[in-house]
Amino acid sequence: MKKPSFKNVAVIGTGVIGRCWIQVFARAGCRVRVFDANPESLAAGMTWFKNDLKDLRQRGQIKKKEAKARWERVTAAESLADALEGAQYVQESLPESQEIKNRAFHEIDALLDPKAIVGSSTSAMDMTLLAHGVPGARRFITAHPVNPPHLIPVVEVLKGAETDPKVEAKTIKFLKEIGQSPVVMHRFVTGFILNRMQAALVREAVDLVASGVADVEAVDTSIRDGLGLRWAFMGPFGVANTNADQGARQYFTRYGKAYEEMWDALNTKTRFNPELIEQIGQATDRMTGASYEKQRQWRDRMISAIRAVKAADPLLRDPPKRRRKPPKAASRKKK
Ligand SMILES: NC(=O)c1ccc[n+]([C@@H]2O[C@H](COP(=O)([O-])OP(=O)(O)OC[C@H]3O[C@@H](n4cnc5c(N)ncnc54)[C@H](O)[C@@H]3O)[C@@H](O)[C@H]2O)c1
Repeated sequence: MKKPSFKNVAVIGTGVIGRCWIQVFARAGCRVRVFDANPESLAAGMTWFKNDLKDLRQRGQIKKKEAKARWERVTAAESLADALEGAQYVQESLPESQEIKNRAFHEIDALLDPKAIVGSSTSAMDMTLLAHGVPGARRFITAHPVNPPHLIPVVEVLKGAETDPKVEAKTIKFLKEIGQSPVVMHRFVTGFILNRMQAALVREAVDLVASGVADVEAVDTSIRDGLGLRWAFMGPFGVANTNADQGARQYFTRYGKAYEEMWDALNTKTRFNPELIEQIGQATDRMTGASYEKQRQWRDRMISAIRAVKAADPLLRDPPKRRRKPPKAASRKKK
């Protein structure tokens, strides 16, 4: 992993998401100061980090020396000011509330080095509103991870109206350096990219069950043993590029009309109700007898294994040779 451009990092909020960020930064070699307003949450976050290091050791993924080094890079801070001391990058993971985040942004802004950047884990809120009225709004940016961020690398990056474009560039660079996979959004939209796409698919999954077309097991199997096998390593456009011999243009020309007809048929108005949720709950419980905790542990092991496979055979990035240089006639014309 490349040496990160920000060595000193603060993690503010150590709930479900913040605690995983500790592992992301410590793994990358950063010094991490951690703070949570609730001392019990802070202690629980540190315990989670310790146990995760233990699990990694037990699975042979890191050596004792590495686990010790990561643990020693992290300090639980006694106050917000203590956590922000010397920080060059701050990852905020406070509850999803505009009021809480905006108040915290004022406090953080007043205490933090003027050059430091603040990334927010917000899942759905617009940075323009979150940083409203904050004197240093230019250094606040959305850096929305996917749960759990130490295993799933995508981070959605989005500027607020006042965010400095240099802050965006530095954030993207840093996230890449620490092994995350930043994706840039050009404007705010409800659900950002990932949750919006997930919502489109879940809407259809729930509707197929609610309308009696298929049961929960059939829907999940279609993803698990169908679409998901490709989607673990290529997106919908990458899939289109391989689903016709001449790539995405041919695929969408050939099947565009069929997609449009399906899109018209997807205009579902299904709403959740207690009976539907119970029906889905019972069916998902029947799919596996394991406890939820065991299922989560299995999920995390599978994500790690899939990432190892992907790292061994990475994305083919080279453009086709014929497109590397413009044709000679065209380049002569330009001169
Ligand atoms: N949970 C997810 O799946 C998920 C995924 C991606 C992003 N996010 C986003 O990450 C953020 C955090 O979500 P979470 O699920 O970790 O929430 P959480 O409730 O588990 O954790 C929030 C933590 O913030 C602490 N806190 C509250 N007010 C504080 C303050 N003023 N100063 C310091 N600490 C304070 C709480 O004690 C708690 O430990 C939210 O913006 C959420 O939308 C969540």
